[in-house]
Amino acid sequence: MISSISHFDHLEDLDSESKYLVHKAKDATAHAYAPYSKFCVGAALILDDGTVITAANQENAAYPLCMCAERVALYAKASAHPEKRILKLAVVAHKKNHKELSPAACCGSCRQVILEFEHRQNKPIEVIMYGPDKKWIKVHSAAALLPWGFGKEAFE
Ligand code: THU
Repeated sequence: MISSISHFDHLEDLDSESKYLVHKAKDATAHAYAPYSKFCVGAALILDDGTVITAANQENAAYPLCMCAERVALYAKASAHPEKRILKLAVVAHKKNHKELSPAACCGSCRQVILEFEHRQNKPIEVIMYGPDKKWIKVHSAAALLPWGFGKEAFE
C-alpha cells in the first residue's frame, strides 16, 4: 500500500511533536563524524513511551563503512529498547560549518532498513525530512518511501 505524503513549506506548519523531533535531529548533527563528506546528518526517533533517541552519521577512512545517521539511530534503538515501538523518525542535514539546513532525503539503504523496522513492529513509522525541493516532507509510513521494498516474504 502506498501511504500518503504531506508537504509543508515551513517547519512551523508541522505538528508540535514533529517540530520537536526535527529540533532534536538538528542538535544531533553536532555529533556527526563527517571529515570526508563534510555533510553532517542528524536523526531522531520518538518511541511510544516518549523516549527520544538521537544519532549522527559516522564516517570511516574506508568509505563504504560510513554509516548513515538514520541507521545509527535505528540500531541503537533496537539494542537499547527492543520492546518499544518507534512512532516517528526525523532526519536533517547541513554542510559542515553551515547553519542552514541542506535538503537531504533518506538514502535508499536507510529506506530499506526503516521498512524492516516497520515490519518488525507491525505498525507504521512516520518519517519527516527536508526534501530536495526545500519543502518538509512527512510520510505516514516508511512504505511510502520504498514501494516494493525487499522483505522477508521473499524467503517464504
Ligand atoms: N548520510 C546519512 O547520514 N543519511 C542519509 O540518508 C544519506 C547520507 C550520510 C552518509 C555520509 O556520511 C554522508 O551523509 C554523505 O553521504
